[in-house]
Amino acid sequence: MLLLLILCATAASAIPSGGDSPVSSHVVAEGISADHAGEPVLHPFVSFSIEFAWFPTYAGTWNLSTDCHFMIRAITMARQLFFPESVFESAFGEPRRYPRDWASYDPDLKTAINGTVIPSISTDYPRILSIGPSFFESYSTWPDTKFIHGFNLAHNGSKINNDLLETIPVACKALDGKLAYWELGNEPNNYKTAYQGASRPSNWTTQDYVDEWLSRTSLIKKKLAKSCPHLTNAKYIAPSTGLPTGILNPVDVFKHGLKSHHNIALNSEHNYMGGADEPGVTLQKTLMNHTAVINSVENHLKVIRTLKAQNLDLPYIYGEMNSLYNQGRPGLSNSFGAALWGVDFNLYSASQSIRRSHMHQGNNYRYASWQPEETNKTSIGTKAPYYGNVMVAAMLKGADDVRVATIPLPGDTEAAYAAFVDGQVARLAVINMKEYNYSTSDPDARRPATKYSFRLPNVDAQRKLSVQRLMANGSNSITGITWDGWSYNYNLKKGAPVRLHNVTVGETVPVHRQGWVEIEVPDSSGAILSV
Ligand SMILES: *[C@@H]1O[C@H](CO)[C@@H](O)[C@H](O)[C@H]1NC(C)=O
Ligand SMILES: *[C@@H]1O[C@H](CO)[C@@H](O)[C@H](O)[C@H]1NC(C)=O
Ligand SMILES: *[C@@H]1O[C@H](CO)[C@@H](O)[C@H](O)[C@H]1NC(C)=O
Ligand SMILES: *[C@@H]1O[C@H](CO)[C@@H](O)[C@H](O)[C@H]1NC(C)=O
Ligand SMILES: *[C@@H]1O[C@H](CO)[C@@H](O)[C@H](O)[C@H]1NC(C)=O
Ligand SMILES: *[C@@H]1O[C@H](CO)[C@@H](O)[C@H](O)[C@H]1NC(C)=O
Ligand SMILES: *[C@@H]1O[C@H](CO)[C@@H](O)[C@H](O)[C@H]1NC(C)=O
Ligand SMILES: *[C@@H]1O[C@H](CO)[C@@H](O)[C@H](O)[C@H]1NC(C)=O
Ligand SMILES: *[C@@H]1O[C@H](CO)[C@@H](O)[C@H](O)[C@H]1NC(C)=O
Repeated sequence: MLLLLILCATAASAIPSGGDSPVSSHVVAEGISADHAGEPVLHPFVSFSIEFAWFPTYAGTWNLSTDCHFMIRAITMARQLFFPESVFESAFGEPRRYPRDWASYDPDLKTAINGTVIPSISTDYPRILSIGPSFFESYSTWPDTKFIHGFNLAHNGSKINNDLLETIPVACKALDGKLAYWELGNEPNNYKTAYQGASRPSNWTTQDYVDEWLSRTSLIKKKLAKSCPHLTNAKYIAPSTGLPTGILNPVDVFKHGLKSHHNIALNSEHNYMGGADEPGVTLQKTLMNHTAVINSVENHLKVIRTLKAQNLDLPYIYGEMNSLYNQGRPGLSNSFGAALWGVDFNLYSASQSIRRSHMHQGNNYRYASWQPEETNKTSIGTKAPYYGNVMVAAMLKGADDVRVATIPLPGDTEAAYAAFVDGQVARLAVINMKEYNYSTSDPDARRPATKYSFRLPNVDAQRKLSVQRLMANGSNSITGITWDGWSYNYNLKKGAPVRLHNVTVGETVPVHRQGWVEIEVPDSSGAILSV
């Protein structure tokens, strides 16, 4: 048994008694060990996936009113502050939302994209989309970033040569020195049924998919050999299915030979906790809920176990994920509660050997970490989920061998993790996800907190651990969020970090006898303790 959980009443005598803080409960955990930690995370763990149609907007090459400096700052800051030794990647789905006879690539198009929104389908992205050669200039504005470029598989009409083959020379030149992987096809499990328009007949089979994928990647390889010979052997992430269960799930496609050309580096699958418009979805029940997180990740773990048993496994990542599909729900996906969900979901996934996570982004999307331009729907700037990304990056920083173990806690509104660097415990993260909606809470009452006691292995008593907190007025806050006192608010310094003076920083907690440490975590907040 990895962890012994004792509730307060039976706590060992070495646990220091608390002061007179407003704690509502006290949770005690010991036996933290690397034995059951996940496999080492890939650096960077938190990465981003950007809706194809919105990439030029995110890259600042589309609308001159975009504040490019802000965008580049958002990207470089995250990189420099939290994973200085690495780059991070951006994955792209294919332009998946156009009719099958529409050319996705138009070599004569003077703009990066030509998109037409069809409001009856979605107002969040263009249903009809073509891209021109200047689309690829967007790869040049992000410093020190590596990319995954998605080629089109869905399109099966007569313009296939335009769609796929003509973009290869343009894409590979733009990505010289910046390519992480290729991708071919986005959510092929939806091709027969997509509400944006089916692109395959109902009798299309798993074997058909695998054959198409293998033959098109062979075509790409031939074309690359001519245009960018040194990228000929670049690998893919695949199969990028929307759900790891159901049709075209990774177990089926790998059994049918998707790996047979040895050109896949990472098994990439997508995940959402639920739908933005699904009835019954709430912040507490759906997102700020560790049990719901475990249930959501379990779909992937079943697949990983089956693939391992059949020697078909590859490092497993989320190629696209976020809180609620259909771009998130206002008031939920853009709230501080969703940032806490992001911390729990990502750290739990890391503890279960999911090696990387691309959080999906798009212009005006409710769950976006940052909004690239001022629109009549959304103000430009860093959004609440960004702060969750920053806390995850702070927890997982380090060299090659960073592993995460869960520290089981009794409630489904709390979670804790240990990060091990080279086998030694380096950090603990605690997330108290009890909903604290500041709009409905008594302003004169103190915000409730839970006290947590952890017993650290091999850590000397008398040492002090530094504490960094992820904090906001409440789970429903969409602004005023801080990580370790830092704000990235656009209104303060256009997204550059500002240390706020009204937030406590520089806190430490002592290590007591036998390695016990104690920390109070207010409802709807998170903390990291660094050894
Ligand atoms: C952009 O796409 C629309 C179809 O949605 C088309 O009518 C229009 O001609 C296209 N514009 C250009 C410049 O290609
Ligand atoms: C393309 O997709 C359509 C489904 O809308 C299907 O009828 C057609 O047979 C497909 N063509 C090929 C070559 O797969
Ligand atoms: C699949 O359906 C299409 C028509 O949509 C037909 O042309 C094709 O022959 C069918 N393929 C098989 C293998 O039955
Ligand atoms: C958390 O999710 C589980 C599983 O869906 C559910 O049974 C439980 O009631 C939820 N907890 C809260 C606090 O909503
Ligand atoms: C660029 O942004 C401005 C200001 O937000 C907006 O009015 C305009 O429609 C945008 N142009 C395009 C091409 O998106
Ligand atoms: C918001 O901006 C979009 C795109 O620029 C435009 O099509 C739409 O009419 C605007 N809506 C309002 C209410 O101004
Ligand atoms: C927080 O409380 C306000 C006021 O009752 C309510 O409108 C809002 O929906 C609540 N927020 C969440 C995320 O539940
Ligand atoms: C947070 O609460 C403080 C104290 O009540 C208040 O002054 C501040 O305006 C609030 N901030 C936000 C963003 O709601
Ligand atoms: C702290 O100061 C910032 C910036 O002035 C403000 O937005 C935020 O609401 C303040 N927070 C509290 C808890 O007062």
